[in-house]
Amino acid sequence: MNLGMSVGVLGTGKYVPERVLTNFDLEQMVETSDEWIVTRTGIRERRICSPEEAASDLAYHASLQALERAGLTAEDIDLIIVATITPDSAFPSTACVLQDRLGAKKAAAFDLSAACSGFIYALAAATSMIASGMYRHVLVVGAECLSKITDYTDRNTCILFGDGAGAVVLGQVPEGRGFRSFVLGADGSGGNLLNLAGGGSRCPASEQSLKEKKHYIYMAGSEVFKFAVRIMGSAALEAVEKAGLAKDDIDLLVPHQANIRIIQSALEKLNLPEEKCMINLDKYGNVSAASIPIALAEAVEEGRIREGDRIVLVGFGGGLTWGASVLVW
Ligand code: ACO
Repeated sequence: MNLGMSVGVLGTGKYVPERVLTNFDLEQMVETSDEWIVTRTGIRERRICSPEEAASDLAYHASLQALERAGLTAEDIDLIIVATITPDSAFPSTACVLQDRLGAKKAAAFDLSAACSGFIYALAAATSMIASGMYRHVLVVGAECLSKITDYTDRNTCILFGDGAGAVVLGQVPEGRGFRSFVLGADGSGGNLLNLAGGGSRCPASEQSLKEKKHYIYMAGSEVFKFAVRIMGSAALEAVEKAGLAKDDIDLLVPHQANIRIIQSALEKLNLPEEKCMINLDKYGNVSAASIPIALAEAVEEGRIREGDRIVLVGFGGGLTWGASVLVW
């Protein structure tokens, strides 16, 4: 990938709400068990925002941390991209709400919708814009309040999702470091496997749409599972090859945190041991676009990433979409 300039991560941040919803809590809500959830998904608990909290609130806290760690202020930011499927509202964008709250007066702002792949899509957009010379510093955020679109009477979905936000500040880094490749993909024919049908222009909010539970996530779990197993390993491998690297060169995999079995299948395809993979879905569940940046921020906090490490980010989600990237730290 010839970007003309090396673009990388200057700072990371994360924020998760305080309230913890455990598998044991879910046992009281739907017919399920901790044992079923742990063995089928690897998830033990997830964070849930308060009724007053929205995606921009979580994004705000994660962004403050990323800015501080980057040694920058909000006024240094030229563009804010928020990847989310749970925006505060249809418009204005959550990125605009965040821009105002941060006081990022010089920043343009937009939301990006690619479900769980949204953060990688946003990284690719931001990286190209910086490399082209259009912007110097871009704040990229993945922020989700999935609890607000989850049907807590549907055991097929309610055990999976949580709330949280992760953020990175991107800018120029020394040559040889930064993003080395991006792979983005979509297959819109699978859109009906994972969606939220209500509230848009096809199916506006109505009494009928409420009755039919059209404002909650619908998921054909096993179909999505098969797609994820197929795409996670192959997209990651494609990104590694595109970066001119081999499987052995990978120091850390930071995958979308949807299901431990999906992650394990990607590890097998990449010949990687579990020690070389960042896994935190046991604590947070699937936080869609926020999963990867939260995992990346935690990997940094835990000292699991050293200068020069070759990190592979990979995700998949509704759309259907997928994305992968190689990042030299
Ligand atoms: N507790 C107990 N039993 C359950 C539960 C539950 N919470 N949920 C489903 N079951 C039952 C099913 O009803 C089914 O019973 P049946 O055989 O009598 O019909 C049985 O368990 C097996 O169901 P499967 O769907 O075959 O279970 P599977 O092993 O596929 O696991 C899961 C289900 C965890 C949802 C899995 O398919 C999965 O992880 N899919 C991918 C999900 C995903 O990653 N989605 C991404 C969404 S992100 C985004 O873009 C918003």
